[in-house]
Amino acid sequence: MLETGQHDIGDILRESLEHEKAALDYDYELLKLAEGAGSVLLEEYAREMIVAEELHLDEVNKMLRTPGDVEAFTL
Ligand SMILES: [Fe+2]
Repeated sequence: MLETGQHDIGDILRESLEHEKAALDYDYELLKLAEGAGSVLLEEYAREMIVAEELHLDEVNKMLRTPGDVEAFTL
């Protein structure tokens, strides 16, 4: 991930959102590879990572919302 040099709190949170999304994409890729390799252990690990990243994404998303907003923040 590139350092954008933008350090406003909103910029930092939007960068974090992108980072969490990228991590989630890698976790889904790992899950596919694990399924293809027939490794239940690796599949379960990937699923745990997906759950963790989804929760991180939700937390960052909530921080990006205007107070009172209930809709998910979108870029
Ligand atoms: Fe994360």
